[in-house]
Amino acid sequence: MDTKVNLLSSGQLQSVVTDFLLSRHSSHHLALPAPDEKQLDIILRAAMRAPDFQYMRPYRFLVAQGAGLIRLGELFAQSAKVMNKPEQVIERVRKMPLRAPVVITVVATPAVNKHVSAFDQILCASSSVLMMQMAAQSLGLNGIWRSGWLMQSRELHQLLELQATDQIVGFLYLGTPAESVAAVRPDDNPEPYTQWL
Ligand SMILES: Cc1cc2nc3c(=O)[nH]c(=O)nc-3n(C[C@H](O)[C@H](O)[C@H](O)COP(=O)(O)O)c2cc1C
Repeated sequence: MDTKVNLLSSGQLQSVVTDFLLSRHSSHHLALPAPDEKQLDIILRAAMRAPDFQYMRPYRFLVAQGAGLIRLGELFAQSAKVMNKPEQVIERVRKMPLRAPVVITVVATPAVNKHVSAFDQILCASSSVLMMQMAAQSLGLNGIWRSGWLMQSRELHQLLELQATDQIVGFLYLGTPAESVAAVRPDDNPEPYTQWL
């Protein structure tokens, strides 16, 4: 057994994992250091542990860092231009990817399957976003899952060379949390949202 695991009893490990799950949160402000190569590999491997009916792997991860962030911003700006957005919007979206050291555009790539609906496959890709965010948080990093109108922009889809049936399910911004204070969040009591059948 791994030594790190040996240091904790199984009960202690369970409670560490439960505390971790119950403390998941996003970070809106992200700074350097960026996830390094090994951390990015862990994050992407976590994505691949998302529940996946028939292991269809119905996703693609478009990873932008360094110059890639500038390229992604250019694609955002080009999409906005083609969509006749005002100049200030074009300039705003150009800078958007620069808000984090890494931005992963998560694309659902549903294929026709007798048993696995396109919806199931999109849910799988969406789950991978959360898996990556959780992995980042476990590594002392964090991120935020963002969407916005660019997600549905056919212009952006074309610039990213996506297939007609592909859907962007999120832009996952990743980096080192720059916030010193935890965001105020509502009560997590599940009771009002739960019905026992
Ligand atoms: C599909 C999806 C899209 C989202 N898009 C945005 C977004 O564009 N901008 C934003 O500020 N938060 C967005 N959020 C919410 C944040 O990711 C985050 O969950 C929220 O700020 C609450 O913070 P918490 O995760 O710490 O509870 C989105 C969440 C989901 C699931």
